[in-house]
Amino acid sequence: MRRGRLGTEGEGEGRGTPTGGPSGEVELELDGEVVRVPEGITVAAALLGGGRPNFRRSVRGAPRGPLCGMGTCQECRVTIDGVPHRRSCLEVVRAGMRVATGG
Ligand code: FES
Repeated sequence: MRRGRLGTEGEGEGRGTPTGGPSGEVELELDGEVVRVPEGITVAAALLGGGRPNFRRSVRGAPRGPLCGMGTCQECRVTIDGVPHRRSCLEVVRAGMRVATGG
Protein backbone atom coordinates (compact mmCIF):
# COMPACT_ATOMS: atom_id res chain seq x y z
CA MET A 1 0.00 0.00 0.00
CA ARG A 2 1.26 3.43 -0.93
CA ARG A 3 1.31 6.03 1.81
CA GLY A 4 2.01 9.73 1.80
CA ARG A 5 0.34 13.06 1.84
CA LEU A 6 -1.52 14.38 -1.15
CA GLY A 7 0.45 16.84 -3.24
CA THR A 8 3.80 16.32 -1.54
CA GLU A 9 5.33 13.62 -3.71
CA GLY A 10 8.35 14.96 -5.53
CA GLU A 11 8.37 18.16 -3.50
CA GLY A 12 10.32 19.22 -0.44
CA GLU A 13 12.66 16.78 1.20
CA GLY A 14 10.83 13.60 0.31
CA ARG A 15 7.47 11.99 0.04
CA GLY A 16 5.30 12.83 3.01
CA THR A 17 7.53 15.68 4.14
CA PRO A 18 5.65 18.92 4.74
CA THR A 19 6.74 21.68 2.39
CA GLY A 20 5.09 24.68 4.06
CA GLY A 21 5.39 26.34 7.43
CA PRO A 22 6.48 24.57 10.58
CA SER A 23 2.89 23.87 11.58
CA GLY A 24 2.17 21.85 8.44
CA GLU A 25 -0.79 24.09 7.72
CA VAL A 26 -1.52 26.81 5.20
CA GLU A 27 -3.81 29.79 5.49
CA LEU A 28 -6.22 30.56 2.69
CA GLU A 29 -9.53 32.28 2.09
CA LEU A 30 -12.71 30.26 1.54
CA ASP A 31 -15.65 32.45 0.53
CA GLY A 32 -14.10 35.39 2.33
CA GLU A 33 -13.32 33.47 5.53
CA VAL A 34 -9.66 33.01 6.40
CA VAL A 35 -9.03 29.42 7.45
CA ARG A 36 -6.05 27.22 8.24
CA VAL A 37 -5.99 23.77 6.67
CA PRO A 38 -3.42 20.97 6.48
CA GLU A 39 -0.99 21.56 3.65
CA GLY A 40 -1.08 19.07 0.83
CA ILE A 41 -4.84 18.57 0.80
CA THR A 42 -6.99 19.53 -2.14
CA VAL A 43 -9.23 22.56 -2.26
CA ALA A 44 -12.20 20.17 -2.39
CA ALA A 45 -11.06 18.52 0.84
CA ALA A 46 -10.60 21.91 2.47
CA LEU A 47 -14.11 22.97 1.48
CA LEU A 48 -15.72 19.74 2.61
CA GLY A 49 -13.72 19.75 5.84
CA GLY A 50 -14.97 23.26 6.47
CA GLY A 51 -18.59 22.16 6.14
CA ARG A 52 -19.15 23.51 2.63
CA PRO A 53 -20.72 20.70 0.57
CA ASN A 54 -22.19 22.98 -2.11
CA PHE A 55 -19.50 24.20 -4.46
CA ARG A 56 -21.56 25.69 -7.27
CA ARG A 57 -25.04 25.81 -8.83
CA SER A 58 -26.28 23.96 -11.89
CA VAL A 59 -27.84 25.93 -14.75
CA ARG A 60 -31.21 25.23 -13.09
CA GLY A 61 -29.96 26.43 -9.72
CA ALA A 62 -29.49 23.07 -8.01
CA PRO A 63 -26.58 22.85 -5.55
CA ARG A 64 -23.61 20.85 -6.80
CA GLY A 65 -20.62 19.31 -5.06
CA PRO A 66 -17.78 16.94 -5.81
CA LEU A 67 -18.74 13.55 -7.19
CA CYS A 68 -15.78 11.70 -8.68
CA GLY A 69 -12.84 13.29 -6.84
CA MET A 70 -10.54 12.70 -9.80
CA GLY A 71 -11.16 15.48 -12.28
CA THR A 72 -13.77 13.84 -14.49
CA CYS A 73 -17.24 15.03 -13.47
CA GLN A 74 -16.44 18.75 -13.10
CA GLU A 75 -19.07 19.10 -10.39
CA CYS A 76 -16.48 20.54 -8.01
CA ARG A 77 -15.67 23.67 -10.01
CA VAL A 78 -14.92 26.80 -8.02
CA THR A 79 -13.22 30.12 -8.61
CA ILE A 80 -9.61 30.19 -7.45
CA ASP A 81 -7.72 33.48 -7.32
CA GLY A 82 -10.29 34.96 -9.67
CA VAL A 83 -10.07 32.17 -12.25
CA PRO A 84 -13.47 30.46 -12.65
CA HIS A 85 -14.17 26.78 -13.33
CA ARG A 86 -11.14 25.34 -11.53
CA ARG A 87 -11.67 21.71 -10.56
CA SER A 88 -11.14 21.85 -6.82
CA CYS A 89 -10.46 18.12 -6.51
CA LEU A 90 -7.29 18.61 -8.58
CA GLU A 91 -6.01 21.78 -6.92
CA VAL A 92 -3.76 21.52 -3.88
CA VAL A 93 -4.14 24.30 -1.34
CA ARG A 94 -1.56 27.09 -1.31
CA ALA A 95 -0.96 29.81 1.23
CA GLY A 96 -2.89 32.93 0.34
CA MET A 97 -5.17 31.17 -2.14
CA ARG A 98 -8.62 32.74 -2.53
CA VAL A 99 -11.44 30.27 -3.21
CA ALA A 100 -15.01 31.22 -4.02
CA THR A 101 -17.91 28.81 -4.35
CA GLY A 102 -21.37 29.40 -5.75
CA GLY A 103 -20.46 30.11 -9.37
S1 FES B 1 -15.08 15.93 -8.12
FE1 FES B 1 -15.33 15.34 -10.18
S2 FES B 1 -14.02 16.72 -11.26
FE2 FES B 1 -13.71 17.22 -9.18
